[in-house]
Amino acid sequence: MQTIKNPTENEIRNAAKALKDGHLVAFPTETVYGLGADASNEKAVSRIYSVKGRPTDHPLILHISSSSQMDKWAVDIPEYAKKLASKFWPGPMTLILKRADLAKDFITGGQDSVGLRVPNQATALLLLKQFEKLNGLGIAAPSANRFGAVSPTSGSAVEEELGNYLCKKDLILDDGDCEIGVESSIIDCTNIYPVVLRPGAITTGMIEGIMNFKMPSGFEKNQFRAPGSFESHYTPTAKIVIGGTAEPGEGFIALAHISTPKGVIRLASPKNIDQYAKVLYKAFRAGDQNGLKKIIVIEPDGDELAIAIRDRTRKAAFGN
Ligand code: TXA
Ligand code: MG
Repeated sequence: MQTIKNPTENEIRNAAKALKDGHLVAFPTETVYGLGADASNEKAVSRIYSVKGRPTDHPLILHISSSSQMDKWAVDIPEYAKKLASKFWPGPMTLILKRADLAKDFITGGQDSVGLRVPNQATALLLLKQFEKLNGLGIAAPSANRFGAVSPTSGSAVEEELGNYLCKKDLILDDGDCEIGVESSIIDCTNIYPVVLRPGAITTGMIEGIMNFKMPSGFEKNQFRAPGSFESHYTPTAKIVIGGTAEPGEGFIALAHISTPKGVIRLASPKNIDQYAKVLYKAFRAGDQNGLKKIIVIEPDGDELAIAIRDRTRKAAFGN
């Protein structure tokens, strides 16, 4: 495996060729890093599953360069989904749509739907465009972490997660830190209403803002129907505990205005919600690097991106 820091146009073109040749390319997006393979190459896609240690019935998100590529992969696209795509793509939003024949079982986990996303990150978009120039149709990419572990939000975190599992000709494109830091919003568009399956930076409020109806409420309570969104997910080795008193020697993550309890190791002090999302996974990793046994997380209140932060911390804390 080779890591390419701040890849040039030429290096990105070579990465697109590597994908075409059946190798894996980890690449940055605005949310988290993805582990990409040619979505039309079953053998390459199967390597994603073995590198991640992920069960094969978990569907992958298909990354495309623009909404003009949507109807290659999906059929019966509802008007509201087209509206969402034109408003929020490129962006941190995945749409679940009825699949076209191109979206094979090895992408969709045998389901009749396919997840599509146009990421909003320069390297990712250039990689997708170059890949399409080589007659590539789309890049399948889950988050570039081992199954159940914390999504990587930097190139070095990808190396840490997958360095031992990638092969010689696989690549990591490293553009430093991701802008948003938590995974895309997943919106199920296979019904008459859009349903948020995984909260993210495109929020219910933003979706309602461009629709003339209210979204069904209550998605934060449970109903994450995205397969693969087990209750325990996004977990570091350290035990994540929400709220409560932190003892000396334990890790602590909270908004900056909350003071650090005595003897506790402060892992992050984000000033606002956007920053909180951006540093959350980095702070989880820092806890593991420091060999901490326990990390206390003080969740942010509020709607919008705070909902995604609470979703991820609760999944990380599941069972603790
Ligand atoms: O921000 C993101 O979405 C990142 C970047 C790399 O794009 N990707 C990502 O992929 O988080 P992954 O595989 O770690 O999570 C995707 C989730 C999984 O829970 C998967 O089950 C769900 O999306 N998903 C994919 N296709 C689906 C489908 N057809 N129906 C329901 N859920 C689907
Ligand atoms: Mg993931």
